[in-house]
Amino acid sequence: MSENGTWHAAAALSEIKENEPLGVEIAGQHVALYRVGENFYATGNICTHAEALLSDGMLDGCEIECPLHMGRFDIRTGEALTSPVEVDIAVYPVRVVGDRLEVCLPE
Ligand code: FES
Repeated sequence: MSENGTWHAAAALSEIKENEPLGVEIAGQHVALYRVGENFYATGNICTHAEALLSDGMLDGCEIECPLHMGRFDIRTGEALTSPVEVDIAVYPVRVVGDRLEVCLPE
């Protein structure tokens, strides 16, 4: 447990491939995991515009493009970048523990 949430094992590092977002369900929440170089990121996986899964979208640098209407989010900040998305996506802290990635989800 941390100040703002609880750490959960999310995936083995080897499962999270560059340019291939990985959708996982952790404690009932849909989370998308990303690898950009040596860095890892986690966001909510359900687009804030409709119901599409961002893990089915295209990762371009640190921007994820929704597969349904091509709205984009910055995976580092969750900021909604391009129409039609207007509401930011949640971002979650991540940490590497051994060969696994952990994600801190709010209570
Ligand atoms: S559902 Fe993602 S942009 Fe519309």
